[in-house]
Amino acid sequence: MKGIILSGGKGTRLRPLSYTNAKQLIPLANKPVLFYAIEQAVEAGIHDLGIIVGDTKEQIKEAVGDGSRWGIKVTYIEQDAPRGLAHAVKIAQPFLGEERFLMMLGDNFTEESIAPFVKRFRDDESINCFLFLKRVPDPEKSGVVELRDGKVVRLVEKPKVPPSNLVATGIYLFDHHVFPAIDRLKPSWRGELEITETIQNLIDDGYTVDYHELEGWWIDTGKSDDIILANRLALSRLRGCVDETCLHGETDVSGLVEIAPTAYIENSVIRGPVIIGENTRIIDSYVGPFTSIYHDVLIRNSEIENSVVLEHCEILDVSRRIESSLIGRHAYIANSEKKPKALRLVIADYSNIQL
Ligand code: TTP
Repeated sequence: MKGIILSGGKGTRLRPLSYTNAKQLIPLANKPVLFYAIEQAVEAGIHDLGIIVGDTKEQIKEAVGDGSRWGIKVTYIEQDAPRGLAHAVKIAQPFLGEERFLMMLGDNFTEESIAPFVKRFRDDESINCFLFLKRVPDPEKSGVVELRDGKVVRLVEKPKVPPSNLVATGIYLFDHHVFPAIDRLKPSWRGELEITETIQNLIDDGYTVDYHELEGWWIDTGKSDDIILANRLALSRLRGCVDETCLHGETDVSGLVEIAPTAYIENSVIRGPVIIGENTRIIDSYVGPFTSIYHDVLIRNSEIENSVVLEHCEILDVSRRIESSLIGRHAYIANSEKKPKALRLVIADYSNIQL
């Protein structure tokens, strides 16, 4: 069975990070969110994976490569513009052929293993489409599913009045009947070919749509708050591994902590769960619970907690504790003694700063 993972899109909710970054490469516990999806697919027995890419294709290709790291084959499928999830499936048709397939969103983060359901779908041709559902407090933001007598009878995209609190998450299984169902679609009010309408077409045509209600968490990491939360969950799975030769001076490390062997920690307090990446230096600082610091970062004389710091950042002599923050690549945050005493900011469009 083949799989596709959607890694194009606009990423408007994650501006300004998504101007320069593929949102699927934002790390959770220092591993790109896309890699979690790939690993789930591999665990479910998928060894031939198509990745849908858009504007950020070069970054995704560089990060994922040919798939040999996971022992699989990866094929890149270019989408000319983010024309919707169903459009992404349609352009993958030459890759997928007539086979039953798995479709995943490259920015979704799910706890439960999907392997048993994928195997069941592969072997049971009486099921044409399989959905992974989740009960959420804010269904109006997603594709909402209506069940009757244990059967999926209706799907509606972001309805004002949701018929239930059950939504379709970012994992789907389809057979080839999905393609004619997409061919009949017209672009929605937001100009996209919607996957919810595709599934509604399948239901209307009498095809069988089965489902499983996911246990554990499911997070769409489309917004910065969701990334901080998903990062907390990813960190809670840390095994903890500290090479003592990285620790210098009066350093105190406690809790679940993973530190790359090339990191350098001096006179600092690290309270896990925390992960610190390659070549990162933490000097005279405090790194508190639920923080991920990626590679090549310098933190000096500062305090940070419950945050995600991307590569090549510098955080120097910041007098107030940084909390619940997502800090993009190559960001520079420093205290300055220059007069007049004022904030001096170079901020990207759509930045969000709370002082
Ligand atoms: P979304 O998060 O639904 O859409 P988006 O990426 O455009 O983001 P926003 O709503 O903030 O503007 O997309 C879910 C996943 O599917 C994500 O990994 C991007 C991918 N995608 C495609 O590959 N092609 C598409 O046409 C769309 C709409 C999304």
